Amino acid sequence: MSAGIAVIAEADTASASAPPTDATIEVAGSRVVLRPSGAFFWPERALLAVADLHLGRAERTAREGGDLLPPFESIDTLDRLEAEIMALAPRMVVCLGDSFDDLAAARNLSEDVLLRIGRLAAGRKWCWIAGNHDPGPVELPGTHLAELRLGLLNFRHIALSRLGASGGEISGHYHPKAKLIRRGTSVTRRCFLSDGRRVILPAFGTYTGGLDVMDGAFDPLVGPDGTAWLLGKQVTGIARSHLRK
Ligand SMILES: [Fe+2]
Repeated sequence: MSAGIAVIAEADTASASAPPTDATIEVAGSRVVLRPSGAFFWPERALLAVADLHLGRAERTAREGGDLLPPFESIDTLDRLEAEIMALAPRMVVCLGDSFDDLAAARNLSEDVLLRIGRLAAGRKWCWIAGNHDPGPVELPGTHLAELRLGLLNFRHIALSRLGASGGEISGHYHPKAKLIRRGTSVTRRCFLSDGRRVILPAFGTYTGGLDVMDGAFDPLVGPDGTAWLLGKQVTGIARSHLRK
């Protein structure tokens, strides 16, 4: 068992009845918080970011003749987002793309979901970053942007393979997850992936799969020195070099 795996096993045992615990890290000189929910919080700006909500997935899957999924995923996702908004009172919410499973899914959202989005966005800035699933503008409260720069942090859907000399990047798209072995059992968890200049967020949406952090797609983005921050009772960092696919 690697040192990193030992750490997460101890953390889970020790915190069984304790409230969930964040991890605080630095990205391009800014202190940011990684939440057990998979949300990202930047206290200095009171900014909450979430990635890959994929609202309307059940509707899209049914429309395209795929599996019929229980159609409650959008409300479930928004319930969890509302809990984070209630806990953190952000002045700004940034949805990092793939907020909708496609643009038709955005147009076909139920009245319940539209009302909920309107309520969550009231009284704060709300930004929809374009994703590969939802590249166009949407007729919902908030601003639709290709990407957003605030201070030294760039918010976009897909991480750039090369970052400029200064600044950090907050992105989504890959739905990172990590696998570890605990007591002889394989456990897979959603995770953040960071390297001090970037944070790639896990998918926040219900019914979203994931890509293992050991996949070669991550090599040019974080390298072996990157850290996977696994979601759980406690957000726990494990060096990517200590994980196996
Ligand atoms: Fe996605």
